[in-house]
Amino acid sequence: MSLFNVYPLFDITPVKAKDVYVYDENGTQYLDLYGGHAVISIGHSHPTYVEKLQKQVATLGFYSNSIQNPLQEALAEKLTKLSKCESYELFLCNSGAEANENAIKLASFHTGKHKIVAFKNSFHGRTSAAVVATDNPKIVAPVNAQQAVEFIEFGDVNALTDILAKGDVCAVITEIIQGVGGLDEATTEFYKTAETLCQKFGSLLIADEVQSGFGRTGDFFAFQKHGIEPDIISMAKGMGNGFPIGGILIHHKIKASFGLLGTTFGGNHLACTASLCVLETIENENLLQNVEEVSSYFINKTNHISEIKNIKGRGLMLGLEFDFPIAELRKDLIYNHHIFTGSSKNPNLLRILPSLTLKKEHVDVFIDALTKALELQKV
Ligand SMILES: Cc1ncc(COP(=O)(O)O)c(C=O)c1O
Repeated sequence: MSLFNVYPLFDITPVKAKDVYVYDENGTQYLDLYGGHAVISIGHSHPTYVEKLQKQVATLGFYSNSIQNPLQEALAEKLTKLSKCESYELFLCNSGAEANENAIKLASFHTGKHKIVAFKNSFHGRTSAAVVATDNPKIVAPVNAQQAVEFIEFGDVNALTDILAKGDVCAVITEIIQGVGGLDEATTEFYKTAETLCQKFGSLLIADEVQSGFGRTGDFFAFQKHGIEPDIISMAKGMGNGFPIGGILIHHKIKASFGLLGTTFGGNHLACTASLCVLETIENENLLQNVEEVSSYFINKTNHISEIKNIKGRGLMLGLEFDFPIAELRKDLIYNHHIFTGSSKNPNLLRILPSLTLKKEHVDVFIDALTKALELQKV
């Protein structure tokens, strides 16, 4: 049986990884500035993570959500402490799309309304409601397309006001910094106005922190810089450092009832152990502070490279914008300099999403390689 061929693959086969490095079957070392789409948060094969997961799988790897699971309570408590999101309750699932799917569904249950507002260039996942809120018609199947969604320009207050005033919107869903779309971020004024408008017209504000959450921007969640309080916050990627786990934080004003949401695998013992270990490591190793420091160093260094026209994003969620398509540059970085980076919907943007444990010395290695690769482009 062959694999259903949906992924264009680089011809590299990683067989092991350690912190910010990945190794292929020939022992070649790659500097991982991509973290497998922003997933690796505390570093590949972090020793405490390995130890805790090994111990957990040897003790109790899984049981369903029909029994008491104190690990879920511990995760909720630790998450409250680190994120300072005290007015929320936690629901656990398995991925980013599933987190957004549950968030939208819950907004619809809570408001009794059906329309979704999303933004141009958004990406929220590939499931039923998440995919219609994603600005990419190529991945929306006819069966999804029947759902009601309106896309507006990211940051357009007038358009948002006009749509919300009609009164049929259950949710406004927004990434705070767009990931796949190319690292755009709206103004604090826009997010605050969106929050006020949602309250006024009876809609819920969903912050999709699937990519930007869990410390990636140097704040625990990216929305915190803007001083807003979303009604629902979705999370996934960095949450489990590679172990599949997603979740939503749900504001207290939204009430739970038995059976309203549910999942077989979500919040299982292994997933909770992985996420608890991520949180403990973020705390013990001061990773939020590290993100701030290494990010400033990174931005400062890239400022000196004249080919970079714009640096977008925050913390270790960065985009380097050139005035030419970066596809060849990215290949050169991988195959000749052994550095993983990412791309986005913006063809001129190189995405940087490393482990939050990245050090200044790794930035130096990248800058050196980038400078050499850019020299080559000129020839
Ligand atoms: C902002 C955002 N939301 C949702 C998703 C979907 O997450 P998943 O691939 O885990 O379903 C992604 C994935 O890239 C994302 O970047």
